[in-house]
Amino acid sequence: MNYDHAFHAGNHADVLKHLVLVAVLEALARKPAPYFVLDTHAGQGRYQLQAEAAQRSGEARDGIERLQARLGKLSTLAPALAAYMAAIASELSLGAYPGSPLLIAKALRPQDHLACCEIKPDTAHTLKKNLARDARIAVHQRDGYEAIKALLPPAQKRGLVLIDPPYEAQLAEFDTVLGALSTGLARWPQGIFAVWYPIKQRRDVMPFLRAAEGLPCKSSFTVELRSQAEDSPLRLTGSGMLLINPPWQLDQVLEAALPQLAEALFGRQDFWLLQPLRQEFPA
Ligand SMILES: C[S@@+](CC[C@H](N)C(=O)[O-])C[C@H]1O[C@@H](n2cnc3c(N)ncnc32)[C@H](O)[C@@H]1O
Repeated sequence: MNYDHAFHAGNHADVLKHLVLVAVLEALARKPAPYFVLDTHAGQGRYQLQAEAAQRSGEARDGIERLQARLGKLSTLAPALAAYMAAIASELSLGAYPGSPLLIAKALRPQDHLACCEIKPDTAHTLKKNLARDARIAVHQRDGYEAIKALLPPAQKRGLVLIDPPYEAQLAEFDTVLGALSTGLARWPQGIFAVWYPIKQRRDVMPFLRAAEGLPCKSSFTVELRSQAEDSPLRLTGSGMLLINPPWQLDQVLEAALPQLAEALFGRQDFWLLQPLRQEFPA
């Protein structure tokens, strides 16, 4: 396993993923009942933007750093974008970018819980150090897909499963994700499931999305951000989030933010796409 998220932290894919994550967490916090989050592929939690990996790849420069510089010139931000920038502000001010476990930990209320899984021992160790000791948070050095079987359903009735694999297995990872979603939905039908996926050539993603349409859930949609119009077999040309059982009106919240996000990152208001996969019809 060679993947190291330090090269990619704060890139445009992280920005999309974490914008959606923060919006879901905000929606969950609207009700007082406790929620549970399972972060199946957690990473190390905090990434230094001046570290060699980040500097060598330059991905954060074209991602969060460009976004921060350009949004600073705008007088009004869409609420989801404002919430995302507020959630990452304290880490950015220290020259770091927060990973999903830190963002979730920051959003937890006293009654909420988080379980993070990270398979690499060193990365899991760093994650434990990066998360302050907190009885509401558990870090497991284990396979996140296995944890879907072991940790679901949680005692809490509501919550989120974030699935953010490195796709080292390339297209085969899509089948693993679909299997995990089937298992997860069978164990926790009302859970929100959010899956990040890479886009190189969009046609490669289509079988995954068609299969996801058939998953048993109330509703689902995808939201994608493209960094360029042309596909490439070699490099990331965009990324998406698949949302299953999304919070009410999450699609509208994101639709309001995406043109501003795409304009700031790529100079193109139209480099995004939100598509329903499965819609809830009134009974
Ligand atoms: C894309 S990174 C995660 C980034 C993180 N979710 C964030 O948003 O900050 C993927 C991580 O999953 C880890 N990983 C790979 N396979 C895994 C598995 N089967 N179970 C748990 N973690 C895994 C990798 O070591 C890597 O740290």
